[in-house]
Amino acid sequence: MRLVLLGAPGSGKGTQAARLKDALGVPHISTGDLLRAEVAAGSALGLQAKAVMERGELVSDQILLGMLEDRLSRPDTSVGFILDGYPRNLAQANALDGLLERIGQPVDLAVQLDVGTELLIQRIASRAQLEGRSDDNPESVRNRLRVYTDQTAPVIDYYRERGKLACVFGVGDMDEVFARILKAVRGSAA
Ligand code: AP5
Repeated sequence: MRLVLLGAPGSGKGTQAARLKDALGVPHISTGDLLRAEVAAGSALGLQAKAVMERGELVSDQILLGMLEDRLSRPDTSVGFILDGYPRNLAQANALDGLLERIGQPVDLAVQLDVGTELLIQRIASRAQLEGRSDDNPESVRNRLRVYTDQTAPVIDYYRERGKLACVFGVGDMDEVFARILKAVRGSAA
């Protein structure tokens, strides 16, 4: 199963992908986590990405595509994958399709997690207190939500037009949301 998880910051992509990887037996690839690992390692790429991430803006498409190409070339992805945080704009959606076509592994389904803005802000504020992620401050969160509306939301239509979109209500406890996603995924494979 090759799955794309779409949703605004705080919608639960990372939380649900961590569960789905066990249920589906495929790796979870989070571009945010890959970038944070580069920042933590102090690599050249991490140094380039750090300030952009802290502002809540998008790191360049070129960097992301290189990173993703590298990750998808690892053998564990031969059984499929869950992409969390990519694609984030239409250029990335097109680049992903091109890349996956070359390796003969097209996206099966994109799942959009639908959560209202007020709840997104509440969830991120709670995480800020618990974890102190550097882009969870109010100004970056405003930017991340704006970037989502302006650049990422059109990706939802991209998958809808290709008949590959499932919209899942992302409000409720984590088990409930997980069950809805699994139902959508299994329904699409039936
Ligand atoms: P990224 O790490 O992808 O962050 P994000 O999209 O802003 O998403 P979050 O991690 O905030 O939210 P999530 O949807 O994963 O929710 P989560 O499960 O954590 O990207 C960070 C940055 O990296 C970007 O801003 C950008 O700069 C850069 N970047 C990444 N990918 C890029 C790309 N493709 N192109 C360019 N730049 C890129 O949940 C949030 C909180 O809510 C958690 O505390 C969780 O416990 C809680 N929660 C989750 N579900 C529930 C529930 N059902 N009930 C109650 N609480 C819940």
